[in-house]
Amino acid sequence: MLKKLEEMKSVAVEKINAAKTQLELNECRSEYLGKKSPLNEIMKQMGSLSPEERKSFGQKANEFKNLIEQTVNAKRAYLEEQAVNAKLESEKIDVTLPGKKFSRGSLHVMTKTIREVEDIFIGMGYDIAEGPEVELDLYNFEMLNVPKGHPARDMQDSFYITENLLMRTQTSPVQARTMLKAKGQPIKILCPGKVYRRDDDDATHSHQFMQFEGLVVDKDITMSDLKGTLSLFIKKMFGEDRKIRFKPSYFPFTEPSVEVDVSCFKCGGKGCPMCKKTGWIEILGAGMVHPNVLKAAGYDPEVMRGFAFGIGIERVTMLRHGIDDIRHLYTNDVRFLKQFERGE
Ligand code: DAH
Repeated sequence: MLKKLEEMKSVAVEKINAAKTQLELNECRSEYLGKKSPLNEIMKQMGSLSPEERKSFGQKANEFKNLIEQTVNAKRAYLEEQAVNAKLESEKIDVTLPGKKFSRGSLHVMTKTIREVEDIFIGMGYDIAEGPEVELDLYNFEMLNVPKGHPARDMQDSFYITENLLMRTQTSPVQARTMLKAKGQPIKILCPGKVYRRDDDDATHSHQFMQFEGLVVDKDITMSDLKGTLSLFIKKMFGEDRKIRFKPSYFPFTEPSVEVDVSCFKCGGKGCPMCKKTGWIEILGAGMVHPNVLKAAGYDPEVMRGFAFGIGIERVTMLRHGIDDIRHLYTNDVRFLKQFERGE
């Protein structure tokens, strides 16, 4: 019996040490110490031994048990440590690896134009003003000398919410709102914003686009102030060598009204496809504020005068960057937008 125990010892230790998982280890333990283990079988036969033999056999059996327990415990500790090490290894962070690259957004090319134009006018002492996009007919048309039924309304068909409420067709209603608020005091504002018209979308038309409205009201304002202001703006925006020219035009809210051309910045005025061989590019509408508009807003046209202008922001952006389709500005194609991300 003792011999059998001795033999089992070395096999058992080897087996325990060879266990690769806690599960295998538990199986080994019950194989050698459990109810069905050979040790248990041998113990059952102890009754047939003499008292001395029983004593020494009991000792050996205990030794065997202790050995198995110790070996199992040592192996268990080893396996646990290994598991922790493996976890640490797998979760190790290599701080020397290059960081993740986050792609950075950039300002929309329209936003850039708006900021540039705003900067130019703020530099000339203008305030930035805003107004609602859902506008009363009163401000969008009536106070701008366009009463109901006026033919000029046909040029700016809009989206009506009620008979007297519409999506504004121009930024000009901000003129009327600002004048009413100023209560006869001088004004110098630039108003960027969205406007809406019932147009079919194509390369040059969009049912929603953006404008800048400019308005100056004071005592001695003349047409030469308008010309000087726009001339400076256009030089800053399109280059120092640019010239402007006024052509007579018609807007209900200005008298006289002008269409403003800038000398072509592509060919310098010689004539090219960009300026349709004329040397000039039409860029904005402007004029001296109509006395009726001043009167409607509580100004005495005998004392106060003003000039106003309106520019399409898309048109300026498209001209400056050679963009051939207005829809590029609204379809959010990142490949298009990425072209303008430098220089922020
Ligand atoms: N509101 C005009 C338009 O949308 C643009 C315009 C022209 C605005 C002349 C003005 C102006 O303030 O004086 O067509």
